[in-house]
Amino acid sequence: MKTEHQRTALITGANKGIGKEIAWQLAKRGFAVFIGSRDIAKGRETSEEICQAGYESTFIELDVTDPVSIRMACGTFSQKADHLDILVNNAGVLEDHGENILNLNTEMLDRTLKANVTGPILVIQDFLQHLRKSRLGGRIINVSSGAGSLTGMSTYAPAYSISKTALNAVTKQFAGALKDQNIAVNCVDPGWVRTDMGGPSASRSVEKGAETIVWLAADVPQSETGKFWHDKQEVEW
Ligand SMILES: NC(=O)c1ccc[n+]([C@@H]2O[C@H](COP(=O)([O-])OP(=O)(O)OC[C@H]3O[C@@H](n4cnc5c(N)ncnc54)[C@H](OP(=O)(O)O)[C@@H]3O)[C@@H](O)[C@H]2O)c1
Repeated sequence: MKTEHQRTALITGANKGIGKEIAWQLAKRGFAVFIGSRDIAKGRETSEEICQAGYESTFIELDVTDPVSIRMACGTFSQKADHLDILVNNAGVLEDHGENILNLNTEMLDRTLKANVTGPILVIQDFLQHLRKSRLGGRIINVSSGAGSLTGMSTYAPAYSISKTALNAVTKQFAGALKDQNIAVNCVDPGWVRTDMGGPSASRSVEKGAETIVWLAADVPQSETGKFWHDKQEVEW
């Protein structure tokens, strides 16, 4: 049966880490969540765990680096729901391991840009048809990073940092292009979070990392768009 009256949210890379926590928190807030995951087993498992706890969840196979996978995910989504309220572009990669811009491996840079920048652009382009059907106004949240802030830019992880700066630019571009269509587009720095990417020494829990993203999805006025957020505060690009 199609989800008609419930608020809906699609989270990319929702099989683990911050994405999985965003899915749990939104499910607990009453959203029907769609678990976007390229890992079929882990994506299904996450979705089943959420369903078993009594919430609404559906697995959708989605590799953000594969335009065919995105197109198929979009088709699968239209069989399950008649609108999308929230799209969280959470999937991302960090492949820099002590790289320096002076000897940056540009093949690694290309892979990083494909996952962290081109992927979100394609996902937004394809899922816009569903976001436009949101009765409340669609919301897109791009999971960025403090590493992408030009204000605080260091020499850390150049490929990753450049990709997140570009994702911030993607956010501004879509926010401008969609400002008359009642679709808000924002990006978030979740802080340093204990996940496979952040590592065990990171200062934040996944709950804290997901907090501002869920707040933007569910609590802030629809008029907030085109901004970069950290801990529920607007921060400099
Ligand atoms: N952890 C931090 O400290 C931190 C700080 C700032 C920003 N962030 C951002 O937060 C987001 C989530 O990161 P995380 O810390 O939760 O990392 P994580 O635990 O490594 O999770 C990354 C997620 O992205 C998915 N992913 C990667 N490439 C994908 C692709 N091509 N298609 C679909 N899914 C893909 C992964 O799927 P697989 O399991 O299949 O690999 C996984 O679900 C990322 O955008 C990251 O840049 C994290």
